[in-house]
Amino acid sequence: MTSEFAKKMQLKIDYNNMMADYIGREEGFTFEQLNQNKTLVNKAFKTVKENRGLGMMGWTELPYNQKEIVADIISTAKDIKKKFDNFVVLGIGGSALGPIAVFQALCHLRHNELPKSKRKAPKLYVEDNVDPERMNALLDVLDLNKTMFNVVTKSGATSETMAQYLIIMDILKKRFGDKAKDHMIATTSANKGNLIKIAKEEGLKTFYIPDGVGGRFSELCPVGLLPAAVVGVDIKALLKGAAYMDKLCKNKDITKNPALMTALLEVLSMKRGRNISVMMPYADSLKYIADWYCQLWGESLGKAVDNDGNYVYAGQTPVKALGVTDQHSQVQLYREGPFDKVITIIGVENFRSEVQISNGCEAIPDVNFLCGHTMNELINTEREATEYALTTAKRANFTIMLPEVNAFTIGQLLYMFEMETAYAGAMLNIDTFNQPGVEGGKNATYALFGRKGYENTKKEMDSAPKKNPEYMI
Ligand code: PA5
Repeated sequence: MTSEFAKKMQLKIDYNNMMADYIGREEGFTFEQLNQNKTLVNKAFKTVKENRGLGMMGWTELPYNQKEIVADIISTAKDIKKKFDNFVVLGIGGSALGPIAVFQALCHLRHNELPKSKRKAPKLYVEDNVDPERMNALLDVLDLNKTMFNVVTKSGATSETMAQYLIIMDILKKRFGDKAKDHMIATTSANKGNLIKIAKEEGLKTFYIPDGVGGRFSELCPVGLLPAAVVGVDIKALLKGAAYMDKLCKNKDITKNPALMTALLEVLSMKRGRNISVMMPYADSLKYIADWYCQLWGESLGKAVDNDGNYVYAGQTPVKALGVTDQHSQVQLYREGPFDKVITIIGVENFRSEVQISNGCEAIPDVNFLCGHTMNELINTEREATEYALTTAKRANFTIMLPEVNAFTIGQLLYMFEMETAYAGAMLNIDTFNQPGVEGGKNATYALFGRKGYENTKKEMDSAPKKNPEYMI
């Protein structure tokens, strides 16, 4: 990969429409206002810099420290491609949303429906729920002889994932006996949780999630790299994109650091009551990047207490939208509803396909005006039109442009959002990397299911006020 290619593929961040010149002083910011927050910015910059690679910021090293792991993943993926037609990820949250996002972004949009000769890689299924109908529907379409499963859980304890594992392993053992282990790979912590013990007992091939990499920051470790490699994604290019963005995000000058600038704009917006962050890609390939972002932003910044123990109830509710689809559903609200949102638009300069709009309807000018154009022009014109419509209504919005969707630009995009989240968390003075709220839900499930060690939680739950039938219709 040449440096010329890397430069050509660099993401562009256009935050004009966050500025007072375009949306007015009440909604937008002046450059002086951004400068007035230098202390906040410098402090966040320092915190992130000093914590790189430490504690739960191990993910900053992933673009650099996985040479041997990547080689193992590529050779394992090659083997899987030879032997199997289906690759099924069993996981939830950070163990599922990244693999889904990268698959959608970098594979054929109908990958699973393509004939095998064109697909050239196994079908990918990511099972991130415990809906019994979905589980049976999956089993109805899989030929188990041709299926490899990948159970993914950092904690090795998540009920949903472990329930899926138990169901599938039982079926595999009944079908394949001792050979069941040849259909299951585990991705988990090397030294914590139950899955690692089970994997060792069963003799499963295992990949490790580094200690300092939390679920929602794990796409660029084996959690995401193995499924991506299996479906043919160039995972080295993905990591190179992340490394390229990392360099930009190390810049102390906020006008040259995409993550630091967007974090500041979001945090200042939150302080003005813009409590919703809409992520709106204008490309179907990026549709699930918005889902992945929603977990990252919501779970990282939604915190009751700050690092000094004050109740701050921080966070911004992330909302996913899709351009142009949601122009006919949500944009009415975004343009005319409450002033409580920041809208991030993701655009693509060059799509991987071009579709010409056919000639026709010559006698009807109101339809014929479309002829001679391409769908590519239409989607990008509509994106610009939405930016304009939002801006004239004084709605805070900014655009991230991808020169094209490829492994290098997706690596940049994922890493930029991770860095933006880290900077925003530091500006909010919260613990970006814990998730007591999620764990509260997990613990309540353990208690209700009678798991040992959760008796007190069960007692607390039993003594909670009972539902009043008068409030039910
Ligand atoms: O970001 C997180 O830590 C969580 O959302 C986890 O990804 C999710 O709860 C799944 O956890 P685990 O990977 O331990 O099964």
